[in-house]
Amino acid sequence: MWLPCGCTSKYVASSFARRILASHLHVSGRSRCNVAAFMPEAAGFEGVSGRAALRELSVSNSESFWAAVARHRLSWSIPFHTVQDCDLSRGKIKWFEGGKLNVSVNCLDRHVHTCPERVALIWERDERGSEMKYTYRELLEMTCRVGNLLRRHGVKRGDCVTIYMPTCPLAVASMLACARIGAAHNVVFAGFSADALAERIRDAQSSTVITVNQGVRGGKVIELKKTVDTAVESCPTVKQVFVAMRTDNPVTMTARDIAMEEEMLKEDVVCEPAVMNSEDVLFLLYTSGSTGKPKGLVHTQAGYLLYAALTHRYVFSYHDGDVFGCVADIGWITGHSYVVYGPLANGATTVLFESTPIYPDPGRYWDMVERLKINQFYGAPTAIRLLLKYGDQWVNKYDRSTLKTLGSVGEPINTEAWEWYHRVVGDGRCPVVDTWWQTETGGICIAPRPSDPDAEIVPGMAMRPFFGIKPVLIDTEGELLTSNNTSGALCMAQPWPGMARTIHNNHQRFIETYFQPYPGYFFTGDGAYRSEEGYYQITGRLDDVINVSGHRIGTAEIEDVVNQCPAVAESAVIGYTHSIKGQGVYAFVVLKKGIDVKEADLSRQLNGMVSEKIAKYASPDFIQFAQRLPKTRSGKIMRRVLRKVVESDLEGLGDLSTLDDPAAVQEIIQEQSVLS
Ligand code: WTA
Repeated sequence: MWLPCGCTSKYVASSFARRILASHLHVSGRSRCNVAAFMPEAAGFEGVSGRAALRELSVSNSESFWAAVARHRLSWSIPFHTVQDCDLSRGKIKWFEGGKLNVSVNCLDRHVHTCPERVALIWERDERGSEMKYTYRELLEMTCRVGNLLRRHGVKRGDCVTIYMPTCPLAVASMLACARIGAAHNVVFAGFSADALAERIRDAQSSTVITVNQGVRGGKVIELKKTVDTAVESCPTVKQVFVAMRTDNPVTMTARDIAMEEEMLKEDVVCEPAVMNSEDVLFLLYTSGSTGKPKGLVHTQAGYLLYAALTHRYVFSYHDGDVFGCVADIGWITGHSYVVYGPLANGATTVLFESTPIYPDPGRYWDMVERLKINQFYGAPTAIRLLLKYGDQWVNKYDRSTLKTLGSVGEPINTEAWEWYHRVVGDGRCPVVDTWWQTETGGICIAPRPSDPDAEIVPGMAMRPFFGIKPVLIDTEGELLTSNNTSGALCMAQPWPGMARTIHNNHQRFIETYFQPYPGYFFTGDGAYRSEEGYYQITGRLDDVINVSGHRIGTAEIEDVVNQCPAVAESAVIGYTHSIKGQGVYAFVVLKKGIDVKEADLSRQLNGMVSEKIAKYASPDFIQFAQRLPKTRSGKIMRRVLRKVVESDLEGLGDLSTLDDPAAVQEIIQEQSVLS
């Protein structure tokens, strides 16, 4: 694996980078006013006092707000001429048109210019106590070498490179190298199976893949290169696979494979950055929707970077010199926005966490907090719930006095977990920010902060919209709910720079999923409650997407795999409440007539199929073999009814009048009672 070399700087600002740096330094010298003390970007808004007022202004005067922030926070080679050109009814979203910039210059060169020896990355390797630090200069050099390597192997502006790597410095350098040369990246979570990887490579039409020989997680070796070998067999577009070495074990190399570190050594440490348009594609990231096919959400350059940087700065109260510890994997949007782009755009020291919360023991996170002196810790409720069960002693063993803010993301955080996080981990002195957002939103949209430092935080509530975000609730009739103390579909009434621009190769699906359900609004797919005080609380998905250990998965994706088994006639998958994972996977399976197999054997087979075709986390916790499924007269499976049965909420079965044959529900209930 590429090591920090500590050699003297060979950094020479390219002419393009120099121009950008000059424009940045010029803008930073602007006048200040009262809000400016808190938010220098908003220095132009004289007379606005307090963060709540600034929030209102950021919505009512959105264009001026975003223009000021974009000029201040990003370094442009050519300024934008149009702040936004959006039409939500058509799914048209464009920000900062006319502007030109390079994302890697914003994340690296400008910090190398001012503080080259500041630590950019701390790689908290799986092996405890073996962390490695990389300065901004070293990360820039690594990025440039990868950029040159990709260019030399024919990767061009506009191409899409698939990255299948664990969270490690070379993965970050690969993402930034794509940004540097104008290629898009498509990071695929390294826990996905060969089939899932292949599907994403094919859809993205990548000809280049970057991977490692093996991954290491929780002390176990994971054969990532072998998975890539299997995947690319069904990907005719793939011409080359770069293989980095995470472990010392050699792997079989084919004619298509290139030894990454060896080749990087031959490259120069200066790589001319491509001059990108604001709306050029920065990356694709696949996520699950309510149909079987994952969608490649597209994020573009300027708006995404700006939003990631701004939310990172203000939601977590990040300050210069802080060590930011987001433990998400880079394969998810949280890793993109709050391990890589947001922190690096702000010149932060960001932690790359390669391990698990309980390896080698349940003190891992807090040992890391002490060792790396982490100031902001950002993780998932599922891990908090797991650690809570191991007891306070694993936390109390370690010094956590550096912590200032604790963040939660990915799923609702229940009150017990929130309070433990606040009281035990944060010693009752760190604000807990429950952050709501999605792959689609690019960055955090609802969170308790920014708000005045002493403003109340309600456990388990995301609470306040971020600057420029205008959430609304809409009822089932499509009516806007204007009062408080009400629940509805969570939509956004205004565009913001971080939102996804389209679904790769399928703009129609983008429109149908997000903009057609409530014309004129962006529909999140989530339901929410707005309290008497006007605070938001997310109540869960309204579609057939479930959230297992913070990983989003479409029930239809799992059904597709289960239905491929020759013994299966049909299936229905639902999520049910799980004490650690948040939601578990429950599959109802109807066998074809005349099939005679042991249910236990078939269950094992189906679990294996789901792990192999999607990923382990999607594998059902329960499989119930049923005679038939409850359906409407038009043949739609009534998952709502199945959910109630699994929750043992027979009172809440609701209106069954549209059922084709109500006896089917009684059968399912009886079958279930035999099981439990
Ligand atoms: C859910 C992860 C409750 C929600 C950043 C959303 C949450 C989906 C929260 C997006 C939260 C995320 N409280 N639910 N704080 N944060 N979710 O795309 O259902 O992997 O729609 O992005 O996770 O998942 P995704």
